Amino acid sequence: MKLLKKILLGVALFFLLIQVVRPAHLNPPVVAPLHAPDDVMAILRKSCYDCHSNETRWAWYSHVAPVSWLVAHDVEEGREHLNFSEWTTMDAKARRELGEECIEEIAEGEMPLWFYTPLHPGSKVDGAELATLRKWAESL
Ligand code: HEC
Repeated sequence: MKLLKKILLGVALFFLLIQVVRPAHLNPPVVAPLHAPDDVMAILRKSCYDCHSNETRWAWYSHVAPVSWLVAHDVEEGREHLNFSEWTTMDAKARRELGEECIEEIAEGEMPLWFYTPLHPGSKVDGAELATLRKWAESL
C-alpha cells in the first residue's frame, strides 16, 4: 500500500513537472485564404482547419502535456503539407493537385487523422460531404 502511494505520487509529480514544457500555440496571420462555396468551407472548417490552417481552435487537451506536444507537432506538420490559409499563394496546378489529394486522403480514411474524429464529434467526413468536396476539387 505504501509503495502504491509512492508510485502514484511519483506519477502525479511527473505529470505536474512535464507541464512546464509548453509548446507555442500560434495562429499566424491568415494571408491568402481559400475562398470556396459555403458548404465546402463548412466541411473543411469542421474537419480540417484545426491542422491545415492558421485558424486552429486549440482544444483544452492541447494544453495538457504530453498531448500538447503531439498536437503541436501535428499542427505544424499539417500546415507544412497543406495550409488553407496560404491557399492562393499556390499556383493553379498545385491547388488542383492538393484538392485531388484531399479527396484521396478522405476516401482512404486517412484524414482527418484517426485520433481527431473521436475527440471532435461530427468531424468525420460522411459520403454526402465527400461528394460535395469532390465536386469542389474537380472544379479547381
Ligand atoms: C489532427 C490533425 C489533422 C486533421 C484534423 C487533418 N489533417 Fe491532414 N494531415 C495532418 C498531418 C500531420 C499531415 C502530414 C502527415 C501525414 O500525411 O500523415 C497531413 C497530411 C494531409 C495531406 C497530404 C498533403 C501532402 O502533401 O501529401 C492531405 C491532402 C490532407 N492532410 C488533407 C486533409 C483533409 C482534407 C482534412 C479534413 C477532412 C485533414 N487533412 C484533416 C494532420 C491533420
